[in-house]
Amino acid sequence: MELAGKSVIVTGASSGIGEAFARLAAREGARLTLASRRTDRLEALAAELPDVLAVTTDLRVPEQVDAMVAAAAERFGGVDVLVNNAGQGLHVPVEDVRLDDLQAVVELNLYAPLLAMQAVAPLMRARGGGAIVNVSSNTTRMTIPGIGAYSATKSALEQLSATARAEWAGAGIAVSLVVPSVTATEFHQALRAGSFRGGGHVQPHPPELVAEAIRRAIETGEAEVFPVPPAA
Ligand SMILES: NC(=O)c1ccc[n+]([C@@H]2O[C@H](COP(=O)([O-])OP(=O)(O)OC[C@H]3O[C@@H](n4cnc5c(N)ncnc54)[C@H](OP(=O)(O)O)[C@@H]3O)[C@@H](O)[C@H]2O)c1
Repeated sequence: MELAGKSVIVTGASSGIGEAFARLAAREGARLTLASRRTDRLEALAAELPDVLAVTTDLRVPEQVDAMVAAAAERFGGVDVLVNNAGQGLHVPVEDVRLDDLQAVVELNLYAPLLAMQAVAPLMRARGGGAIVNVSSNTTRMTIPGIGAYSATKSALEQLSATARAEWAGAGIAVSLVVPSVTATEFHQALRAGSFRGGGHVQPHPPELVAEAIRRAIETGEAEVFPVPPAA
């Protein structure tokens, strides 16, 4: 699916990967609904880009996820593309994971993408198809001490995403995963708890690289796109 003229929802558009993808999609001529909590950031971005609806949304609140999708459908007459990008890390050893922290991160990294997919699916069916991109993490493909709780939320998202892909294939809705590695964003300063101990060998890549991967997933409908190919 090409982005030009399409109604595209981007969650977590106030910084990092979501902001980079919003800029890319605007250049391609998409009609954008941008969602996150920080209204000032969203409105500043919306003021720079054409054809943008900024919807202040706390994605941990189910009614606000529904309201985001409804606002996009009302403004742009439907939804063609959903990018479930918003997410938060929880980088503590297993022994120290607190359930209230895990619950908060599960609500954002798993429940919110699920609810958003459920809300857009009937709208996409009505248009004969659509594209959904769920942003995961390459931490699901390795075992890294200290980030098990975060990785668990993304592994759950990957399973849900793959199953939605199979269930909706007949409706023309392509559900894809984008699987970034360490990216230079605010992510590691915005962890729910803990800290990032990447070590000197980890070279973060720019969020624009992940934005390109999201574009590719939308255009090709591939099951998985890695901004940086995994080592063989
Ligand atoms: N950076 C990395 O190294 C890396 C690596 C692999 C995967 N990822 C994944 O990439 C995605 C984007 O992260 P990023 O790197 O761009 O980090 P980021 O700069 O911290 O962006 C996170 C976005 O999520 C939004 N968000 C957080 N809590 C929210 C809530 N309750 N409701 C609505 N929006 C919320 C934030 O906006 P507000 O604060 O304004 O709400 C922000 O726009 C995440 O899913 C992350 O897990 C990142």
